[in-house]
Amino acid sequence: MADRRMRDVLNQPDAAWEQTLRPAGFEEFVGQARVKERLEITVAAARQRGEPMDHILLSGPPGLGKTTLAHILARAMNANIRCTSGPAIEKAADLAGLLTNLEPGDVLFIDEIHRLQKTIEEYLYPAMEDFKLDIVIDQGPNARSIRIDLPRFTLIGATTRSGLLTSPLLTRFPIRERLDYYTAEDLQQVVLRAARILGVRMDSEAAFEIARRSRGTPRIANNLLRRVRDYAQVRGDGRITRELADRALAMLEIDEDGLDEMDKRILEAVVVKFGGGPVGIHSLAVAVGEEPDTIEEVYEPYLIMEGYLKRTPQGRVATDRAAKKLGIQPARGTQPTLF
Ligand SMILES: Nc1ncnc2c1ncn2[C@@H]1O[C@H](COP(=O)(O)OP(=O)(O)OP(=O)(O)O)[C@@H](O)[C@H]1O
Ligand SMILES: [Mg+2]
Repeated sequence: MADRRMRDVLNQPDAAWEQTLRPAGFEEFVGQARVKERLEITVAAARQRGEPMDHILLSGPPGLGKTTLAHILARAMNANIRCTSGPAIEKAADLAGLLTNLEPGDVLFIDEIHRLQKTIEEYLYPAMEDFKLDIVIDQGPNARSIRIDLPRFTLIGATTRSGLLTSPLLTRFPIRERLDYYTAEDLQQVVLRAARILGVRMDSEAAFEIARRSRGTPRIANNLLRRVRDYAQVRGDGRITRELADRALAMLEIDEDGLDEMDKRILEAVVVKFGGGPVGIHSLAVAVGEEPDTIEEVYEPYLIMEGYLKRTPQGRVATDRAAKKLGIQPARGTQPTLF
């Protein structure tokens, strides 16, 4: 449980802290090479034409850099960015207010866009497509719709749950990019960069140790660095060595392989409750008390990438590595091909 609480804390965004460490331009943004290249081309082409970029949807698990990229894109375009989020837009009038205040070329960033109400979403369609807003004024017999011209703008939507987006909304984003978990090598660069900015003395092996245990997530890596830095200051001479990082991470009860409590619950359910699988996503969701979409979009990709789970047409199957992780003898015989 201590582990879970610690992970919850490490996964929390901390606005002031993230502001300090957020890369300002593409050149500082570590990893995600293909996504980065495509977005850089989008920016360069739009700039050459002197037009705003097409609308962009950024998806992927929490803490991988969606908000960061939205800011980088706006900055690269020399555009203002207005930020809001799906749940913050409560009424159609809120959206109308945002849209009518945009200047030509502005970026409107809508975080958690999957949480936008459907009725509000419908106002967004003509705004995205034709840069027009149809609003209804007055009520009852006097109600009438008026059409307002909007400046050409770029909508950047971010979501951790692209599966929850309606298809009319999805198809109105000509550019859709999905961020993936970072390799330990990439996260090592993230940690070393953060250490430089914070003026922390750190060995590169120590940075790798933190990176390896950060669940492929820059936010977790940066937050772990912060905790390890505290430890180095109080229990050491301030310098973060590999040995000190090890001790600090052990004290924090951070999993050796970077898994968090929900990851382990999922693995345990597949391995123990369902005998190694195959198990369908819905049964698995009930067993661990989480939404199927969240398991599919937030947890599973990391477990698959790290080789703990496999997706088969029959359902999820645990690998030998999952059983070993839990200290359980693989249930030979039930899944002879995989164990
Ligand atoms: N590629 C990267 N290189 C360096 N640092 C990064 C990178 N991506 C993210 N970070 C760091 O991780 C932090 C979290 O990133 P960000 O807020 O962009 O994630 P997010 O995908 O928007 O998460 P959420 O889904 O929770 O909103 C940032 O403050 C930044 O410091
Ligand atoms: Mg974000």
